[in-house]
Amino acid sequence: MNPILSALPTTVFEVMSQLARETGAVNLGQGFPDDPGPLDVRRKAAEAVVDGWNQYPPMMGLPELREAAAKHYKHWQGLDLDPNSEIMVTSGATEAIAGALMALITPGDEVVLFEPMYDAYLPLVRRAGGIPKFVTLTPPHFGLTEEALARAFSPKTKVVLFNNPLNPTATIFGKADLDLLADFCVRHDAIAICDEVWEHVVFDGHRHASVLGRPDMRERTVKISSAGKIFSLTGWKVGLVMAAPAIMRVLSKAHQFLTFTTPPNLQAAVAFGLGKEDGYYEGMRADFQRSRDRFAAGLRDLGFAVLPSAGTYFLNVDIAPLGESDDVDFCRRLVTENGVAAIPVSAFYAEGAVKNVVRFCFAKRDATLDAALERLAARRPR
Ligand SMILES: Cc1ncc(COP(=O)(O)O)c(C=O)c1O
Repeated sequence: MNPILSALPTTVFEVMSQLARETGAVNLGQGFPDDPGPLDVRRKAAEAVVDGWNQYPPMMGLPELREAAAKHYKHWQGLDLDPNSEIMVTSGATEAIAGALMALITPGDEVVLFEPMYDAYLPLVRRAGGIPKFVTLTPPHFGLTEEALARAFSPKTKVVLFNNPLNPTATIFGKADLDLLADFCVRHDAIAICDEVWEHVVFDGHRHASVLGRPDMRERTVKISSAGKIFSLTGWKVGLVMAAPAIMRVLSKAHQFLTFTTPPNLQAAVAFGLGKEDGYYEGMRADFQRSRDRFAAGLRDLGFAVLPSAGTYFLNVDIAPLGESDDVDFCRRLVTENGVAAIPVSAFYAEGAVKNVVRFCFAKRDATLDAALERLAARRPR
């Protein structure tokens, strides 16, 4: 068996969810909303199943979805994308990431990763034969520094895997960070795989800037989006990949033999959703922002040290002021003794783990958040 995969432990997400099921805990670990998602988009999917096309769609995705994506990203992010040569539909962002790594890495190439990182990244990089080089980000700002990038980049750097907005920190990299990253990519002739699945889930009036929109990165960026996050339908697994034609031609070869296509009915519904008026997107953000504010205020009232959350479904708490120095142990006790499941942020690091931050998902109904706060009162700082 392959040693990289067989040596992987069960993820902490599964461990915490299992403990939550066993103990009947409020599960603020896994990142999915309680809300069933926009009814019109779900109706479109249902109609497409009943009345639409249910055989293999085109390998690159339904033309109507690629056209809708081009219009959508022109409108929201100022991107000029050719739907025929620069957009591909995948089965979730996860397939897009796996395919991009397979397509762009030759064994022995170095891949720059920013930790804390989404759990799929490292095993996929290793399985593709990439040599990971880490940039370690630390709280409270989780920002980039020139020194850290200089340590990670080398003449062997081929790919940079960059997530913005960043899960689990709920931070957004600003223009200065993107300038620095672009400068290193250009100097090292590296391609940036940009996981932008949280691009629409941003708060406080923020507008997402895609790395693909920078003229200096236009020919060396793979932008990855996820309808699951755009429409709060995380189970749908419809991803969008955008890149210049020369890169896209190779990405499509990986997709061709990984999944080949993605359910056409869901694609039709996503095409419809991407054309929804601005008010839908603004309303979605406002709803999540309200949940964030409710949960953050409740935590602060209890005396917890809440870190800023600029986007995503997550809010982080610094547990050092509680006298805690082991986030995994803290989360185990929190779920078994207090009945609230959360995720220790150290699980998102490969080396140099930060062990004093715990991630909560606030994309839940008020009653769920309030029940969690009631239970968390037992852990309030004394
Ligand atoms: C940073 C990041 N990338 C990718 C994904 C997976 O996206 P999908 O469900 O479209 O595969 C997630 C899901 O939480 C995520 O947070």
